Amino acid sequence: MNPFELKPKTLDQCFCDWSCLNSKPYDKEEISPYTKLRIVLMNGTEYESVNFLHRFSRNCDNNDIRRSIAGVRRVEQQQQKRIANLKPLNENILEHTIAYEHLAVDLTALLAQREKNGYVKQALDFALLEDFDHLYRYADLLEMEQGVKAQRLVGEYAEIMPGRPTISEHRHPYDSIRYHIDSKNSDMLTVLNTMIITAAEQQTMNYYMNQGAFYDQSTLGRQLYTEIAMIEEQHVTQYGSLLDTNCTWLENNLMHEYCEAYLYYSCYMDESDKRIKAMWECLFEQEVSHLHAAKEMLKRYEKKDWESVIPVGEFPELLSFHSCKDYVRQQLESVSLTADRENYVDIKEVPKNSDFFTYQSIVNPKAADVASHRVIDDYIDKKGIDYRYQIAEHPIAELRNRHKDNISVGR
Ligand SMILES: [Fe+2]
Ligand SMILES: [Fe+2]
Ligand SMILES: [Fe+2]
Ligand SMILES: [Fe+2]
Repeated sequence: MNPFELKPKTLDQCFCDWSCLNSKPYDKEEISPYTKLRIVLMNGTEYESVNFLHRFSRNCDNNDIRRSIAGVRRVEQQQQKRIANLKPLNENILEHTIAYEHLAVDLTALLAQREKNGYVKQALDFALLEDFDHLYRYADLLEMEQGVKAQRLVGEYAEIMPGRPTISEHRHPYDSIRYHIDSKNSDMLTVLNTMIITAAEQQTMNYYMNQGAFYDQSTLGRQLYTEIAMIEEQHVTQYGSLLDTNCTWLENNLMHEYCEAYLYYSCYMDESDKRIKAMWECLFEQEVSHLHAAKEMLKRYEKKDWESVIPVGEFPELLSFHSCKDYVRQQLESVSLTADRENYVDIKEVPKNSDFFTYQSIVNPKAADVASHRVIDDYIDKKGIDYRYQIAEHPIAELRNRHKDNISVGR
């Protein structure tokens, strides 16, 4: 599929009425976990589009360009509403959070497995173990406070057990910046992977920023959102710093639209729900229009062909969701890594006077006050052992004990 070869719709053909924007919600008991993950992913992708286009407009002194992107942005907003309204009324904040962290786990693992740039792959593998741990902490909170087993929500596609303990993930901000890629000399999948994961993690960050204080079951739950939201800030910093910093706004615009078109086409090909599949197809067609508009602006205002940014228009390998349990198990071997400036090192090699330990001593002076640890501690106090879903024993010996939460691995 080469979206540059398709005939685009006009802007007016892309606008929708209210009945279209107020999508009929899915049935939370019936929906496939991967359909839900695609919905969360594409909602986050549209947030990135809308915010990117606002930032672009505020940094541009040409009103013709600003009008053009206002047109596209109106459609991006409508797309986001169609997707967001698929979430049913009876799916609460925490149940929906499980989908966010399940997406973070499976999406990161899928992107890491196809990533050819070793440095980008390391970044994915590193954060994978952290979102994997978030899934476990939220799952225990969900079971403890609402009696809902997250295993049912993830459809047994992902295991639920400790990763790099969240308490060990709090690093100094100076250790989240990575080297950026050079998109013109990178494989297209590397460019797409970095953009896709940045948008997804950014949406998780936004979600916790907005929803955390609305969690109404307990103070401990609110505190867990506060703590994990701070890690999502680290993840967005890490992934955002990988993005190419040397593109012009119009080049970046073209890449954004290409990425959206690629994702909707992937969703369309991967989707099992007939109604939602038809929606992905419609949204893909709208992205084709955005892409062509982006291509024309690049040509008109910078005299550049789209091929100078995207050398091959044909989509690379599409994104298709499947379980990555074995891959995550292998990666757990690296659970004791931390970040040191642009690189990753085993915690045993980090000097005691490093930024990592200074920051840890400031934010985590008492483990008993750290929500991610307390959730598991409280759960074990009430029920004897923590809540997990494992297909075999935990690959890391230190993380096997279900009667005591480990707070020493990785710090
Ligand atoms: Fe869009
Ligand atoms: Fe997370
Ligand atoms: Fe994350
Ligand atoms: Fe778009």
